[in-house]
Amino acid sequence: MGFAIAVDGPAASGKGTIAVKLGALYGYPVLDSGLLYRAVGMKVLGQGGDLADEAAATAAARSLEPSELEGPVVRTRAAGEAASRVAIYTPVRRVLRDFQRDFALQEPGAVIDGRDIGTVIAPDAPAKLYVTATPEARAMRRWKQLVGQGETVTYEDILADIHTRDARDSARADSPMVAAPDAVLLDTTEMTIDAAFDAARRIVEAARSRWETAKG
Ligand code: CDP
Repeated sequence: MGFAIAVDGPAASGKGTIAVKLGALYGYPVLDSGLLYRAVGMKVLGQGGDLADEAAATAAARSLEPSELEGPVVRTRAAGEAASRVAIYTPVRRVLRDFQRDFALQEPGAVIDGRDIGTVIAPDAPAKLYVTATPEARAMRRWKQLVGQGETVTYEDILADIHTRDARDSARADSPMVAAPDAVLLDTTEMTIDAAFDAARRIVEAARSRWETAKG
């Protein structure tokens, strides 16, 4: 295993931005694992299917192509909602697991952000962050992002989405959203992007020193 960095946390906590910046810092590839679930959800809907149909979601996960992770559709509000609906299915998670594990294990290192990276996908990752912020702060960030993408939506709608999604992601039986016992918590509520990245960088640098010492 290379130097795997797991960045977990709830919707719009800033984990994606932090993951991309850490990847650039170390020159490691970055995987936004949420895109996999978003693409599966949108594929089911695109085929006229029902998100309550576990078999359809599993088939969509099995036939997922890299090109389906690209483009604006997977970044929409609807895709985030669809993602959390298909993410409750164990067969869907199982199909997506090997790809994420292989990604995490690559040399010389990798960054993955998601919900269960530090707990299930890469429990031995030498660096683990759990990035949080209040629901209100996260809703404000997501609302600005979606409006910037041209969506027509109110802040109140997004706050309600965030509450629904937090509850669904935390309550699911398989791989619920939870901080790994050895993850370092980073609350970005009062932080700018630069401040949050700086804090994350210091946490990861400390983990890297320990990892290098342990490797000998
Ligand atoms: O940024 P945001 O949280 O809105 O979206 P995301 O990270 O793209 O994740 C979308 C949804 O996918 C989450 O609400 C989870 O239900 C699911 N997900 C998951 O179950 N496990 C992951 N490793 C990543 C995402």
